[in-house]
Amino acid sequence: MNKLFAANWKMHKTQAEAASTTSDLARLCSSLPAGREVLLIAPFTALAATKAAISEAHHFALGAQNFYPATHGAFTGEISPAMLMDCGASYALSGHSERRHILGETDAFVGEKTAFGLKAGLKMILCVGEKLEERKAGQLTEVLTRQIRAGLSGVTADCDAESISVAYEPVWAIGTGLVAGPTEILEAHALTRKLLVEIFGEKGRQVRILYGGSVKPDNAAEIIALDNVDGVLVGGASLKADDFSRIVLA
Ligand code: PGA
Repeated sequence: MNKLFAANWKMHKTQAEAASTTSDLARLCSSLPAGREVLLIAPFTALAATKAAISEAHHFALGAQNFYPATHGAFTGEISPAMLMDCGASYALSGHSERRHILGETDAFVGEKTAFGLKAGLKMILCVGEKLEERKAGQLTEVLTRQIRAGLSGVTADCDAESISVAYEPVWAIGTGLVAGPTEILEAHALTRKLLVEIFGEKGRQVRILYGGSVKPDNAAEIIALDNVDGVLVGGASLKADDFSRIVLA
């Protein structure tokens, strides 16, 4: 399975900035090692500009940060999966901690979105992770089990496992500079793999498990080499082409 290097640009970058970062990345990563894939998860308004800049570097995929689980209708301010695909996106996130904890998205809504996006033809990255107080209270297993089971509850057993990734992103490590250590990552990813096999059977081994939370050029190589780490989801360090290229090539 190829390792996925995903840049989550969050609420950053105008169209011109997205296009220039993408072109710089394409140049810096022109000799991408075999077995690696790059995914740029741009804000809605920069999807088309990012896509246009990607055509120079056909090994990059485009993703969106969010959508509403309906084909169309009276949902002011929302965007459908078909609209994202129309802009060239082939991936989308669901369950990112900022949407769970700032925008109030529930496990049930995240599950609905994951299933809807897959049915609509998007590859989905379901994000899960515990808050610091949950970790301190010894609730890691409980939180991950609940978020993964709910997040995948609408996904049917005949799904294409390669269209699904789960990103383990401990909330306390996102944007804080605190990175989970190898032991913590190994434990959470092994638990995630076990749950995926319980849910999908042997197919659960083809689901990619990404790590996210303060991944930087100087820790990426160690993280990506760990068991059950099939890629990384990078926020802050993905904003500059130079930093992100050093992660991709680590
Ligand atoms: P970070 O964000 O790399 O800035 O910690 C990761 C994420 O939110 O996906």
